[in-house]
Amino acid sequence: MASSGAHVHHVLHTIAKRLASATGLAEDAALNMLRPPPKAGMGDYAFPCFELAKQKKKAPPELAQELAHALIRDTELAQVVHRVEAEGPFLNFHAQRGVLCSAILRKVCDPTQPYGESSEGAGKTMVIEFSSPNIAKPFHVGHMMTTVLGASLVRILKLLGYTTVSVNHLGDWGTQCGYQFLAWQKQEPDTREKQLAARGIDYLAELYIEINIPGKHLKVLEEKLLDKNIAVQPDIRSKIESEIAQVKPEADGLEQQARALFKNLEDGDPELRALWQRMRDVTVISLNKTYLRLGIAFDSDAGEAFYEPYVKELVKDLKERGVLVQSEGAWVIPLEEPGAKRKRPPCIIIKRDGATKYETRDLAAAIYRKKTYNFAKNIYVVDSRQSDHFSGFFKALEKAGYGWSMKDCVHVPFGTMKVIEDGLIKNMTTRGGTMVSLHEVLDSMVEIVRKIVEEKNPNLTGEQRQIVAEAVGVGAIVFWVQSRRRLSDIVFDWKLATSPDGDTGPYVQYTHARACSILRKFGASVPLQADLTLLQEPEELAVCKSLERFPEVLKDSAEGYEPSMLATWLLETSRAFNDFYNRHQVLKAESMPLMQARLVLVDATRAMLAKGLNLLGIQAPDEM
Ligand code: ARG
Repeated sequence: MASSGAHVHHVLHTIAKRLASATGLAEDAALNMLRPPPKAGMGDYAFPCFELAKQKKKAPPELAQELAHALIRDTELAQVVHRVEAEGPFLNFHAQRGVLCSAILRKVCDPTQPYGESSEGAGKTMVIEFSSPNIAKPFHVGHMMTTVLGASLVRILKLLGYTTVSVNHLGDWGTQCGYQFLAWQKQEPDTREKQLAARGIDYLAELYIEINIPGKHLKVLEEKLLDKNIAVQPDIRSKIESEIAQVKPEADGLEQQARALFKNLEDGDPELRALWQRMRDVTVISLNKTYLRLGIAFDSDAGEAFYEPYVKELVKDLKERGVLVQSEGAWVIPLEEPGAKRKRPPCIIIKRDGATKYETRDLAAAIYRKKTYNFAKNIYVVDSRQSDHFSGFFKALEKAGYGWSMKDCVHVPFGTMKVIEDGLIKNMTTRGGTMVSLHEVLDSMVEIVRKIVEEKNPNLTGEQRQIVAEAVGVGAIVFWVQSRRRLSDIVFDWKLATSPDGDTGPYVQYTHARACSILRKFGASVPLQADLTLLQEPEELAVCKSLERFPEVLKDSAEGYEPSMLATWLLETSRAFNDFYNRHQVLKAESMPLMQARLVLVDATRAMLAKGLNLLGIQAPDEM
């Protein structure tokens, strides 16, 4: 528990100090070993005796008994603890409720050390790459997880004192650019200009989808042919084959043209370069609108194209050093380990046609980032389907002499996002079968919430309502996708996600707004000098103990790259607070000093809920 460093309060310090004197352990070591008891009702902190008992060649329960005996008479300990008892191998401390509440709240409200913030990351740089959509293609709901998770990790790491560099590794290079140019060239010049001005990325995405219809169709047919069930049915087979014969010339023709256009772009064709720049700019402007709604800004949007010069340098260097070998006309880095069971395909650096690959650009990008930022970790928040890609190119980097890659490059994978509609779990697609764009999902959610807010709080002005609906609608989705472990598949439920009393973002937001409303009704500034030891109800302690965990939860979320831990903590804290609020009066408390103490509790909870929500990229409106 000592891991939370500066946030450790005096009750814990006292327990650790007295334990140290009774055991001969160093105070820090004792602090480190204290933990929440294994079961509820066993006090507030437990000291497991296993390790010490081993050293002292005693049975753990026997040592626990001995220590309990010694500590029962400890007068300094008695100031903060009302009971010490041995339970099997554990020594359990029951703190004085009021003293503990006060100790925790004093830490939470300490203006000199913002609660949860630490300097453990000082001097270390974390590069966090996330979102990374492809330009001129739909920015769809599939990008939700990477965008939201990545941004939360950046915020959390910052709070822990790390220097962070957030990178949007835009997919702005490759054959897809050729397809985009081709689609553009096929449009009537006047029309395309008007459409682009009016619809930005949505228009480009539409062109991209359209130009890819034959190619996609062909791919589907070819996949069908590979299906074993179909392969054995000659009539179906020949039907598919004849369909393929029909689509293939068109699809192949388009592909050839797209490749040629991309080659021209790479070779520096000024007109294509200008068009490319325009498409990239339009994309970035549109993306930024969505990022703004999500409260996200990047330090760098160096995408794949940015690394072109570095790719050239890298390839030259790898060839000179003999790292690349030729295989079937391509240049590759072999990844096979002698004696390994799993055969690993090589990492292709230059294709047979002389073009570089997605992998090549990733290699160059990682090396560039190491040189530029000297990162402690280079984190990729990318879905789990690309796991092989990442483990492959991390290994390739190592083989190329960049030994840091295996330790310092981290792929943070996550599952896919589906939606439940009419009882069925499906992909979030439009009627045309393509994925729904991210801003459309946000819009729909905001619209749903606007209606709820209208019903619940008719006193809000139209403008206020819009602001609240945006905060709650966006917050509902953003919370939902982070409230499950990232590797599990997320099934989004429009209705449940907005429920103000489920495990949802709005539930936490409402709890926060409730705390704000109590403070508003009180009207004056929070009486911080209140006697907090008056907080002696179990519900008050439960809130405090939840707050106490905040620094640890942040640390664990960062270590596991798992913002869901923070989301879970927000739900638990909200539940504890609502329990307290439902059972006890704040403004009508039995006495003035008790009211003052409770106001501090309310304010501390308000502040921590807001902080936690903000860390997850969610607004915390004062009123809803
Ligand atoms: N642009 C890619 C896509 O949309 C994701 C990029 C992931 N990052 C990376 N460094 N490869 O699938």
